[in-house]
Amino acid sequence: MKSVIVNILLLCLAVSEAVSIPKREAKGTATVNLAVSNGPANALGSGFIYGFPDNGTSASTAIPDHFLTDIRFQAGRAGGAQIPYGGWKDTGKSGYSARFDSTLSNYRTTRRYDGQFLMLPHDMWGAQGGMTEADLHPGDNGNWTEMEVFLNQLISDMKENNIIDGVVIDLWNEPDLGGCWSRSWDQYLEYIGRSHKIFKAQLPQLPTSGPSSAHSPHIDNEKWHAWCSYYYGYMKGERAGTTASSDLRFDVFAVKGDFVKIIAGGRMSSDAYDIHITGLTSVGFPESGDIGVRTLRFDWAGKTGEVGGPVDLGVQVYKYSNNEFTVNVVPTTGETAFAFEF
Ligand SMILES: *[C@@H]1O[C@H](CO)[C@@H](O)[C@H](O)[C@H]1NC(C)=O
Ligand SMILES: *[C@@H]1O[C@H](CO)[C@@H](O)[C@H](O)[C@H]1NC(C)=O
Repeated sequence: MKSVIVNILLLCLAVSEAVSIPKREAKGTATVNLAVSNGPANALGSGFIYGFPDNGTSASTAIPDHFLTDIRFQAGRAGGAQIPYGGWKDTGKSGYSARFDSTLSNYRTTRRYDGQFLMLPHDMWGAQGGMTEADLHPGDNGNWTEMEVFLNQLISDMKENNIIDGVVIDLWNEPDLGGCWSRSWDQYLEYIGRSHKIFKAQLPQLPTSGPSSAHSPHIDNEKWHAWCSYYYGYMKGERAGTTASSDLRFDVFAVKGDFVKIIAGGRMSSDAYDIHITGLTSVGFPESGDIGVRTLRFDWAGKTGEVGGPVDLGVQVYKYSNNEFTVNVVPTTGETAFAFEF
């Protein structure tokens, strides 16, 4: 069987490359159950907020295609934020129009790769972070007219420019942060209700989403490039059953194809965690024996730090029985990630 051959191959590797990785007491355990199949790995998390260069209202060709196709790019999310034009609340229709053009360009770039486009009206309003109580918000003083004029303009522009296919309307970004919404939660909820009705009345086919608290990956970040090209786009095969550690500070994603591949990382934690792997017989391993696991470490040196490619920690041999074994994960920083292959 192929997997037996793989096993033998890895054992051979193990003989020549076995390393011993120092252990530390684990703070929690994540699990991988190879006997469970959750469907194919479709890279659904492969997308980003902002990042495409603007090109008037046209798609940008500035970024070589392979940067998108390597990561099996699925979705872009934008609304013309952080360009030198205020939004609707600042400069009315003129600033809004510049932001709409940027949105249109980003939409067209996203569609070049058949990506889904999460459109951010709050950016076109001008709530790109940095909102204060002095800023106009939808529904101020119980008056929703300005918001209705704004959304009607946006919907009309979307129809005129055919921003329809693949669009999800993300109604308002990060309303739980004062910088994006500096009003009461009730006013926010009323905004959601009213804006949802307006979009559904005029563009009923488009899904809406929210609320959202996304962190943006950085296009200049070496770690992001390394992460994209090495464990996410290559995480192919059937997704295995996984759970995060009970404190939700450590999680895993696992696929079983020609190899079993597991990516693992903590959420700003340098504590050690365990990955408990079960169901080995379901992918062709015997009930007990030795298994050679290659470990890759993804380093992090701040948003602009150079870290190079993943560090290959070699193959470690685990003796196991009862169809299960445990990998102890010891991060060097709170931002270190790992991949395991066997
Ligand atoms: C900008 O868009 C034009 C089409 O309007 C296209 O020919 C050109 O390649 C694009 N340039 C960049 C850098 O995206
Ligand atoms: C409500 O807002 C609209 C648009 O900003 C404004 O024209 C109108 O005067 C406001 N209504 C009241 C009662 O203040």
